[in-house]
Amino acid sequence: MSEASRPTCMGIVDEAFRLERTGKPVIHLEKGELDLDTPEVVKEAAIRAIRDNRTRYSDSNGVPEFRRAVCDYYERAYGVSVAPSRVIVNSGSSPAMLELFLALLEPGDEVVLPNPGYPAYPSFVEVARGRVVWAGTREHGFAYTADVVRPHLTPRTAAVLINFPSNPVGVSVGAGALRAFSELGPLIVSDEVYHGLDFDGERPHTILEFSDDAVVVGSFSKGFAMTGWRLGYLIVPERLVDRLIRQHQYVFVGTNTFVQWAAITALEQADLIKQQIRTELRARRDHALAGLPRLGFEVTYVPRGGFYLFARQPDRERPSHAFAADLLQQAHVATTPGTEFGSDGEGYIRFSMSSPIHLIDEAMTRLAVWLAAGAGRRVAAAQSSCCGGSTATSERKDRQPEEVLS
Ligand SMILES: Cc1ncc(COP(=O)(O)O)c(C=O)c1O
Repeated sequence: MSEASRPTCMGIVDEAFRLERTGKPVIHLEKGELDLDTPEVVKEAAIRAIRDNRTRYSDSNGVPEFRRAVCDYYERAYGVSVAPSRVIVNSGSSPAMLELFLALLEPGDEVVLPNPGYPAYPSFVEVARGRVVWAGTREHGFAYTADVVRPHLTPRTAAVLINFPSNPVGVSVGAGALRAFSELGPLIVSDEVYHGLDFDGERPHTILEFSDDAVVVGSFSKGFAMTGWRLGYLIVPERLVDRLIRQHQYVFVGTNTFVQWAAITALEQADLIKQQIRTELRARRDHALAGLPRLGFEVTYVPRGGFYLFARQPDRERPSHAFAADLLQQAHVATTPGTEFGSDGEGYIRFSMSSPIHLIDEAMTRLAVWLAAGAGRRVAAAQSSCCGGSTATSERKDRQPEEVLS
């Protein structure tokens, strides 16, 4: 079975909610969203927009004032000048990516994706009848760089997808690494949905600082705690605008009008909103980083952004699905097995900082008890694995991703 068509394992997520419904005190460290509420100022702006009857169809490619606000934000945050005509708004970055690959790919065109990487990417490519080409990063200490991608390029490569701060690893990239991607040749599709959640005070960079002939995928889900509002966008090169808009207006028609008006306020307040989220996430990361190695998890790098931590299991031989499934059943701590993100994730667990500090600490305590009891090892893998099938992996080099990516 190809990597891209492997069964998706939502089993752990569903099982976590099932256990919770039966009264089990599940701690959620598996979610791709934060427990934080959308900022009040954004909620108020949405209520105002509804009262002002911003409830009709918007321009198909987005409310002009909102697209202008996206461009102003990119100018402020990164110093790049983008014409609003290049912004195409959608209901989250997920449909935006699907739309992009539908417009971009001819059958059999190849798209290079990181392994491990966000599990939905291969679906977008395959629905658009493209071919997924995996660039494994494990043997490079999970550093996804232009050098890692280059051997995978062929005359059929239509795009290279990059994602920083990354899901599931949490690494960021510096200017040099982004420039190298921009010089590879094929179109770079830069998933920047975790932008603004970079810790440690380094100024983040966008691919648009290095090339206008690249695509940015943006979203309000993560950086503004607005997952349920469903708002995202593409910034595309001029040469792709007409093709995308023709498709967009007949398939998606438009995006919720009052949500776009509310998001203008979110962008105006972006510095403050993201600063507050960053401060909270950094504290959570520090707690997890302090706790996990003491329990035998190996974390050989410091995540620089986003809200994930990718740690090697203490019990290295067990399939990560079995490890995560047993951890959930026996200690009621929900995590995501590394193989959810590709074969290079075998032996790893993704911890999401999606719960507050006191619950992260409580999860560490439960893990300590569970591991000390040896419980994780006693339960047969077959009994509890929701997807089964471990993949052979090579020994990783414990290189710091941030050393490679600067
Ligand atoms: C890397 C990455 N890109 C895109 C998305 C999709 O986000 P949305 O469709 O909510 O904008 C996610 C969600 O988890 C993600 O982790």
